[in-house]
Amino acid sequence: MDFESYIRDVADFPKPGVTFKDITPLLNNTKALTAASDALLNMLEGVHVDKVVGVDSRGFIFAPMLASKLGAGFIPVRKKGKLPYKTLSEPYDLEYGTDILEIHSDAIKKGEKVLVHDDVLATGGTAQAVCKLVEKLGGEVVQCNFLIQLAFLDGAEKLNGYPIRSLLRY
Ligand code: PRP
Ligand code: MG
Repeated sequence: MDFESYIRDVADFPKPGVTFKDITPLLNNTKALTAASDALLNMLEGVHVDKVVGVDSRGFIFAPMLASKLGAGFIPVRKKGKLPYKTLSEPYDLEYGTDILEIHSDAIKKGEKVLVHDDVLATGGTAQAVCKLVEKLGGEVVQCNFLIQLAFLDGAEKLNGYPIRSLLRY
């Protein structure tokens, strides 16, 4: 499927000079939605997955679908202050300043194989922080997968050593 034709470029969002890759046309089309989910699964090529981590908030769209089809559990990583139980925290860089991502401290058992999913890989700061949280709990990141990789931002360098897959690269 030509996934690119379902991605809408929105000029000057969220601020002037930035072109936003809008995935909502893809989500809105049931064939594209299903094909994208299947393509993300195919990227795993027989890799065993115990848990799928989705990143607050746009990573929550596909991660539970992937988990269900893989026979794996779904784990939300959330921005600070949103998870109700005991958490581990990890700071990550924003364009201006830093923020904090959190995971429940009992979400992963030692040795579990973990797929990290998010919609977009940009600078890689978000995904890097998620991988650190997974490893602090004793999980093994078996792949980081994304709908879109903004390759010109070199996020893959921050994820050096982790297998990275993406449906679309710009
Ligand atoms: C966006 C996107 C990724 C992250 C990628 O999320 O959904 O999670 O940025 O950027 P990075 O690779 O430079 O870290 P955002 O923080 O804007 O929040 P949202 O998912 O809640 O919209
Ligand atoms: Mg996000």
